[in-house]
Amino acid sequence: MYYPNFGSFTHCKIGIKMIKNTRPESINLISKRAFSPFCIYKLFKINKMSEKVYIFDTTLRDGEQVPGCKLNTKEKLALAVRLEELGVDILEAGFPVSSPGDFDSVHQIAKTLKNTVVCGLTRAVQKDIEVAAQALKPAARFRIHTGIGTSDLHIKYKFNSTREAIIERAVQAVKMARNFTDDVEFYAEDAGRTDNAYLAQVIEAVVKAGATTLNIPDTTGYCLPHQYQEKMAYLWNNVPNIDKAILSCHCHNDLGMATANSIAGVIGGARQIECTINGLGERAGNTALEEVVMILNQHKDLGFYTNINPKLLNPISREVSDVMRMAVQPNKAIVGSNAFSHSSGIHQDGFLKEAQTYEIMNPAEVGAEDTKIVLTARSGRSALAHRLHKLGFEFNRNDIDALYALFVDVADKKKEVVESDLQAMAAAYNSTLVSQ
Ligand code: KIV
Ligand code: ZN
Repeated sequence: MYYPNFGSFTHCKIGIKMIKNTRPESINLISKRAFSPFCIYKLFKINKMSEKVYIFDTTLRDGEQVPGCKLNTKEKLALAVRLEELGVDILEAGFPVSSPGDFDSVHQIAKTLKNTVVCGLTRAVQKDIEVAAQALKPAARFRIHTGIGTSDLHIKYKFNSTREAIIERAVQAVKMARNFTDDVEFYAEDAGRTDNAYLAQVIEAVVKAGATTLNIPDTTGYCLPHQYQEKMAYLWNNVPNIDKAILSCHCHNDLGMATANSIAGVIGGARQIECTINGLGERAGNTALEEVVMILNQHKDLGFYTNINPKLLNPISREVSDVMRMAVQPNKAIVGSNAFSHSSGIHQDGFLKEAQTYEIMNPAEVGAEDTKIVLTARSGRSALAHRLHKLGFEFNRNDIDALYALFVDVADKKKEVVESDLQAMAAAYNSTLVSQ
């Protein structure tokens, strides 16, 4: 990128304005040399400031593609309202041409939401785009999400076509969508396995045709984080008109890397993440919304923020799990039932002395229940004393030593020592004291 010489204060102000609209990684050292020391100081300050990452929720589209998770219009509408409260910027409400039911869901959501951009998926097919536009029409703000497969595998086997013809179809689809809205997102399906130089050609052409967001899906969840980051950076650095659009991450979790890849994509230059509550989605799922939001929130040094209210993450996770009848795995980050429970003696002892020793965030921050100190055969005396204290028993150190012997006996026979076991133990111990 070329920057004029901003040596003077006035020019510096113009320069800063330009830099604000530029991703830090695209400002190279040569261009920095054109700035005065004051300008360079401001430049570093600006680059340290947080930049927004847009959250594009696709729970109701990619998430709902999970077998058994299909929702009716009423259920979708209720979740859409919750997702808007959560603070998602864009909500993909469905694939309107796919069925009358999905058309109706998208239409009702479009009528209801006030701030969130409502989005509908289409293929690069005229009918899909027309139907999506019709479903989305009542929305305060809407986006059409259109696209086509760009990897050689997709071009050959899905379309029996050529690279050139695919660019032509992509351009036509974007132009068609632009007849209905100026908010058009283009997806290059299987971008994860698409040759970067060709992908850059596709992206340049669709931006020229009017696409304002560029979805770079790792459709098969194949990329390694550094590869996905390099792909984003390659596009940012090699597509001449890339500053006219926002790059978006859309990662699948086939190898368990969806979250890592999305964060890598943002570091590489993307400013939108497509994700679902609880990481629901085709096969092994999509990027989990709660994970990327909390990573950006915890790692402030990365310099990004989102519009999501983290306190609503656990309540909405439970709601999605209930309505989709899909249990959340207990060890799931942020929203799993064990995400804030400690069971080993070493961890429990540290946590009870100072929570930060074993917890990087407070459960209340993400709307989870209080930390649980679970009692198992691996637990120690401090956890036992803590749990007994919570039940209203006050025992001294000698009592706890004696009770601990009883506890280990019970704990070895059971997976978990629960409240009723503790009550029984305390009662038995107290009665031995009375009879002495
Ligand atoms: O994974 C994918 O490529 C998709 C596109 C349809 C956006 O979901
Ligand atoms: Zn997908």
